[in-house]
Amino acid sequence: MCGIVGYVGSRSATEVVVEGLRRLEYRGYDSAGIAVVADGALASTKRAGKLANLEKALHESPLPAASTGLGHTRWATHGAPNDRNAHPHLDESGRVAVIHNGIIENFARLRSELESAGVSFASDTDTEVVAHLLAAEVAAGANLADAMRAVCLRLEGAFTLLAVHAEVPDRVVAARRNSPLVVGLGDGENFLASDVSAFIAHTREALEVGDGQVVEITPDGVTLTDVRGAPVAERRFHVDWDASAAAKDGYDYFMLKEIAEQPKAVADTLLGRIGADGELSLDQMRLSDEELREIDKVVVVACGTAYHAGLVAKYAIEHWTRVPCEVELASEFRYRDPVVGRQTLVIAISQSGETMDTLMALRYAREQGARVLAVCNTNGATIPRESDAVLYTHAGPEVAVASTKAFLTQLIACYLVGLYLGQVRGTKWGDEIGSVVRDLSDLPSKVDQVLETMEPVRSLARELAGATSVLFLGRHVGFPVALEGALKLKELAYMHAEGFAAGELKHGPIALIESGMPVIVVVPSPRGRSVLHDKIVSNIQEIRARGARTIVIAEEGDEAVAPYADHLVRVPECPTLLQPVVATVPLQVFACEMASARGFDVDQPRNLAKSVTVE
Ligand code: F6R
Repeated sequence: MCGIVGYVGSRSATEVVVEGLRRLEYRGYDSAGIAVVADGALASTKRAGKLANLEKALHESPLPAASTGLGHTRWATHGAPNDRNAHPHLDESGRVAVIHNGIIENFARLRSELESAGVSFASDTDTEVVAHLLAAEVAAGANLADAMRAVCLRLEGAFTLLAVHAEVPDRVVAARRNSPLVVGLGDGENFLASDVSAFIAHTREALEVGDGQVVEITPDGVTLTDVRGAPVAERRFHVDWDASAAAKDGYDYFMLKEIAEQPKAVADTLLGRIGADGELSLDQMRLSDEELREIDKVVVVACGTAYHAGLVAKYAIEHWTRVPCEVELASEFRYRDPVVGRQTLVIAISQSGETMDTLMALRYAREQGARVLAVCNTNGATIPRESDAVLYTHAGPEVAVASTKAFLTQLIACYLVGLYLGQVRGTKWGDEIGSVVRDLSDLPSKVDQVLETMEPVRSLARELAGATSVLFLGRHVGFPVALEGALKLKELAYMHAEGFAAGELKHGPIALIESGMPVIVVVPSPRGRSVLHDKIVSNIQEIRARGARTIVIAEEGDEAVAPYADHLVRVPECPTLLQPVVATVPLQVFACEMASARGFDVDQPRNLAKSVTVE
């Protein structure tokens, strides 16, 4: 939430910062702004709305040449999304500019204190207090980094803050508490950003900024301290993807590109984790086999799409390990006194690795003594850093706000964890493991097959673009797939959409069905658990009898569903537990096409942000 970029070097700060903001716009697009240090003064431009508005303003009225600057793209928390509340915020003298991601919880108290001292405010944000406080510290003789440390000690809440001062060229100072920040290490230039995509076109060498740390960048150096000024050890990392991974590459939307990348993303998540003998090895687990054998309960915590991956994980983990598995919305977890302890394995699933609800849930779990395994897509993010073990999903950067390839790779990672736990604990299905591992290896080509047959799904979405409501039904692992399909449609097409367990229909929701209403049904394989299959075929007949227009996602060769399907979408044969990997893809394509047909911004749906760093 909110994208932040800082630059010092020899290039045009405006160009570098705006380019960085373009790559971070997925984090929020309520407003955007920039400030540069030029000839002993600050120059700043900010605009409500998308980054394009700021770019237009900069084009019409360019900022002076400068090689130190910072910029911000906002997801509004305090104050309406207008020009006045756009960042950067300046102090009264216009000498200090500040940008901020997060929430300063004690801002009201600080603001009234400042107002009583005669300071007048130019915005309704919580951020502006920081500009005034920094200015006061600098006026009292502190350098900018000392001022930042002193101000941080007074702030409550979560924040990444970046600041520049008119009289301190070649220097950007930043601080972070429970909000993301990384340093990009260049040659004669350095960068600060919410994530590496902002500077990946310039450097792939990066530095983590730990929680509670303050960092100062100059063209030739980086100084990292704790909030009291004590130096802290650097933790460098190399970014193993390049700028092209975060470009549209000829696709109309990032979402389309990311949907198309799923076969590779799934293959990358599996890569190196299955030995030639079929044995699984997850060397990034950092939890000993002994510790895993002691586990008597698994609890998955996650939000949104990642939560849906967790729901699928429950079916797989309980089946393969016979260890009870609960799945909980991270935002609810720590507020209900959950039963977790030393023998609990908590799995925190998060694409960004920065979701505040999930981070707080994992901290709570660790305080109770639980071991935490992060399933994450972002190298070095806070959630994996604070976990006992990490399984990276290797989906590559996901730029579209709606999650697609991250979801599929989260499913794969959860299967791997389940299989690994089963392998380590030697549970009854020992013979099954080999065949499941083979089935996993087949998934990339099966996802590819699904992608090749999506044209009818696209035209159906265009045909249904005027619908007011779409229902999604599934059973077993098809139920979380139904929830995910509904979430995609809600967030992208702004349409009423609900996912139900098909068996629950008759307990209430069937009353919603009316003539012509599209209902998408995810049908499990007729092989294996055929009872499940037969029951859902009955459910399809029940809704059709009440006038629903049935869109059925079923395995190739499943002829039993054909007579009851107004539209049949075929997916390749898959063992039931793995079916979500192929069955989700048509739902992603459907939602994407529907949003586009309804004229909405597919990559940046209204009110949303990619990385949700507030609770
Ligand atoms: C929906 C979507 C969100 C995220 C959720 C968790 O398409 O992307 O529901 O899944 O905000 O985000 P992460 O995985 O970054 O913790």
